[in-house]
Amino acid sequence: PTSPDAAPSEAAAGTPQTKTKTETKTKTETVAGRPGSSGIGDAYYPAAGNGGYDVGHYDVALAYAGHASGRVDATVTVTATATQALSRFDLDFRGPQVTEVTVDGRTATFTRDGQELVVTPSAAIPEGARFSTVVRYSGRPGPVGNGSLGTYGWMPSRDGAVALGEPDGTPTWLPVNDHPRDKATYAFHVTVPSGLQVVANGTPGPVVKRGATTSYDWTETSPMASYLAMVAIGKFRVRHAKAGKVPVITAVDAKYAASARKLEKTTVAALRWASTKFGPYPFATAGGVVDDPRLDYALETQERPVYAGFAPDGAFVVHELAHQWFGDSVSLHDWKDIWLNEGFATYAEWLWAEHRGVDSAKRVFKRYYAQPAQSPVFTPPPGAPARRDLFGFSVYIRGAMALEALRERIGDRKFFRLVKAWAKRGGTETATTADFVALADKISGRRLDGLFQSWLTKKGKPKKW
Ligand code: ARG
Ligand code: ZN
Repeated sequence: PTSPDAAPSEAAAGTPQTKTKTETKTKTETVAGRPGSSGIGDAYYPAAGNGGYDVGHYDVALAYAGHASGRVDATVTVTATATQALSRFDLDFRGPQVTEVTVDGRTATFTRDGQELVVTPSAAIPEGARFSTVVRYSGRPGPVGNGSLGTYGWMPSRDGAVALGEPDGTPTWLPVNDHPRDKATYAFHVTVPSGLQVVANGTPGPVVKRGATTSYDWTETSPMASYLAMVAIGKFRVRHAKAGKVPVITAVDAKYAASARKLEKTTVAALRWASTKFGPYPFATAGGVVDDPRLDYALETQERPVYAGFAPDGAFVVHELAHQWFGDSVSLHDWKDIWLNEGFATYAEWLWAEHRGVDSAKRVFKRYYAQPAQSPVFTPPPGAPARRDLFGFSVYIRGAMALEALRERIGDRKFFRLVKAWAKRGGTETATTADFVALADKISGRRLDGLFQSWLTKKGKPKKW
């Protein structure tokens, strides 16, 4: 199926042919190229991500017209390296009408097929070449979902909009290689009607007011998975603090203004504590956003989690903060391994309770373990929960229980050595459950596959730990 605006760009035929002979030779005659694949190879999301190139940086310029129209005029520049000679390649995009695509400054033809934006450059791209794709779109982005994963993607709020992408919602507003296997840095330049503010991932740049509009800059300098890209537009109570050397920037929608101080305080305290448990905080800045769409979930958007529709308690803040190490820095190779994110973040909540002396991980475990085998605590096993259960209860709880079982088996000293060593896997590379099991084996000097099988993949209530 092809969307209405999918007609190949007519302009391509009229591309000026002003290249010199030598340039033409190196660019066109030597390269044949073949299409990059339309998916990156994730079993749960076969159309997510694309093959044939690796993105280094996204430069995202958005002009947001205001809440009434919800209109966005976007210019997104994707700088990538070809990992094969490319005759054409895909980006993932489910947003409004694309008005123009260029590759290295030349008009490219494009079609749309489901979530694929298929781009054919005027000449094939040689393997190893760095190339820049500019995609322009205009219109009103919107959300996706509403099944078991709830609502996500670009979502209107009371006074603006907020974008939350997990697992596959970022293409609602950005043309991306939508998979954690292709992490990249981001720069956001967002222009809004004066009076509105913009918060995004990373470090803020200058705010420039030009009468009726104001521009905000944010840059994410650490590699980031596309689902963690976040922009929040609205009216916020913004606060700046520090946790050690890390700037902590929080922004709270007016409706939740009363919780602004508490969010900052908890984030700072949790960050200091988490750094002693997991190792150095992996990013340049930290913080959080409380915004008003009533989604009743939070997302660990890199450097600045978003709490959507509620003021978070301490455990929630600790959960999203722990994700900065586990999920954001150490990234999933496959969505089926989601327990690596959610099990760790949930276990961090139990550790926080232990730290504060109000409970212990062992006791929380025991309480859950007392539940019957058919309970959602245990079903489905979190190891490969199926796409609809990605954020199911067992992924969080039984995933965290697996870590407590592991801790009781190998002892505190080795367990926390393992946790820190795992956090160090962060960066551009992704990780799998098998990688974690191998590291646990290595650090403990044991064979733990039985324990992991029992907790992650076997049906019913695990017996062995
Ligand atoms: N990773 C989020 C958390 O911290 C949950 C995201 C849920 N996403 C969704 N589309 N429902 O728990
Ligand atoms: Zn989580």
